Amino acid sequence: MNYKYTSKSVEDTLELAQNIESEKFPGMVICLNGDLGSGKTVFVKGFAGALGIEDNITSPTFTIVKEYLGGEAPLYHMDVYRLDDNADFGVEDYFNKDGICILEWAELIEDRLPEERLDITFKIVDENTRILIFKPHGVQYEELCDAVL
Ligand SMILES: Nc1ncnc2c1ncn2[C@@H]1O[C@H](COP(=O)(O)OP(=O)(O)O)[C@@H](O)[C@H]1O
Ligand SMILES: [Mg+2]
Repeated sequence: MNYKYTSKSVEDTLELAQNIESEKFPGMVICLNGDLGSGKTVFVKGFAGALGIEDNITSPTFTIVKEYLGGEAPLYHMDVYRLDDNADFGVEDYFNKDGICILEWAELIEDRLPEERLDITFKIVDENTRILIFKPHGVQYEELCDAVL
């Protein structure tokens, strides 16, 4: 089953990410898709803030992954938009860690994603409105969506 959430502001998206953070578990994988400017990084900011990470979150454009270790759980923030140029990057290694992985542009590496994960697709409606479609893969993620949405 898919779930839908309409965000009417940046604050809505931040709050939603905070609510998902409150249901976190070790090894959680969240895959974000959607056009440039649709709110993927805003979501990561909300999640990181709820984890107690104080760093300024920016898209890891040149590094593929940024590791934030200062919060309640390790957060691995990946932007795989340019992963083709870095084919050696062991993205799978991060999925096997106890921390939380959030990927921007995850659909570009669909073959390499774990079977159990939460997919979120962001759609731009107008300047301040975004529709988020949630697709849970696996029981843990279904329960999470049930709890939060
Ligand atoms: N409801 C909303 N949720 C998230 N971002 C929004 C929303 N409405 C407007 N925005 C704006 O859209 C942009 C989203 O940027 P960003 O999160 O960096 O996108 P992406 O990482 O998907 O490229 C920001 O400038 C933000 O202020
Ligand atoms: Mg981004």
